[in-house]
Amino acid sequence: MRALVTGGAGFIGSHVADALLARGDEVHILDSLATGSLEKVPDGADLHEGDIRKDAARLFEEVRPEVCFHLAAQADVGTSVERPDYDADVNVLGMVRVLEAAREHGAHLVFSSTGGAIYGECDGPAPETHPRQPISPYGISKLAGEEYIFGWNRLFGSHHVVLRFANVFGARQEPSLEGGVVAIFLDRMQAGESTTIFGDGEQTRDFIYVGDVVRAVLAAGGHEGGVYNVGTGVEKSINEVHEACRRVTGDDREPEYGPARAGDVLRSVIDPSLAGRELGWRAEHDLDSGLRETWASMTSSA
Ligand SMILES: NC(=O)c1ccc[n+]([C@@H]2O[C@H](COP(=O)([O-])OP(=O)(O)OC[C@H]3O[C@@H](n4cnc5c(N)ncnc54)[C@H](O)[C@@H]3O)[C@@H](O)[C@H]2O)c1
Repeated sequence: MRALVTGGAGFIGSHVADALLARGDEVHILDSLATGSLEKVPDGADLHEGDIRKDAARLFEEVRPEVCFHLAAQADVGTSVERPDYDADVNVLGMVRVLEAAREHGAHLVFSSTGGAIYGECDGPAPETHPRQPISPYGISKLAGEEYIFGWNRLFGSHHVVLRFANVFGARQEPSLEGGVVAIFLDRMQAGESTTIFGDGEQTRDFIYVGDVVRAVLAAGGHEGGVYNVGTGVEKSINEVHEACRRVTGDDREPEYGPARAGDVLRSVIDPSLAGRELGWRAEHDLDSGLRETWASMTSSA
């Protein structure tokens, strides 16, 4: 397959590009390097440095991809609060430009959306039909992106797929971006520095290992339409994640506690059963085994 990965110089996109190369695909990456970096781009992938907002049409014309994995985004909640116009520009306008280019060239699109930022507070594992109540500009812009996909599928008969990721963790995640609590904990522990938990640490999230996410993305590349949660269905509190990080790293320090962050939801967990039934996908890593893989790659590249 000739594949285009937008955001392929970023955390998840670079793992997707790795997996596509491993199965023998021709891999092109469109990335502005806004948060991504050259070091993450795998050998063998063709990097086209550019912006989805202005370069998507030209690149689709040049590459003519059969499938496009759209992972480029403004993916930081804090940035979306500070600069909602920039967030919407990339995540809505940029998304529409990619969608239009895909329509023009008959490419299949897989769109990376978010469960946590769209469902808001959850009583238990949220299915895809859970009320959508984003509580950040980021959640709103991702939801808008989804609606464009669904609308284009209705209007133009395309079969693009939306994947709603839970909290993804793994190698190459930037500790400087606020979403990756695992990356932050492991980075501090590796540096021998103290760690801080905001609030009482009993807030829960659904942590999914990046290798599992990549398998879901690849499965969606050959699937016709639909919206699927990509998570474990298992809630872990931040205190539990901290303990698990200490187990894996051998760090013996207790965390410090800071004030709760405004707008932090208490429970966020998504139900992956539909992806199990229709994509034949389920997570293979639990938190501990995913952390071991992540830590092994951090320490082997240190
Ligand atoms: N990491 C998570 O836990 C998580 C959870 C849910 C959804 N997602 C989604 O997964 C996707 C990948 O996220 P990530 O965690 O790898 O983030 P990331 O920031 O590492 O990757 C995003 C990539 O997009 C690129 N980019 C940003 N703006 C661009 C633009 N205008 N044109 C071209 N490239 C641009 C960045 O340089 C970066 O390489 C995003 O769509 C994000 O919304 C991530």
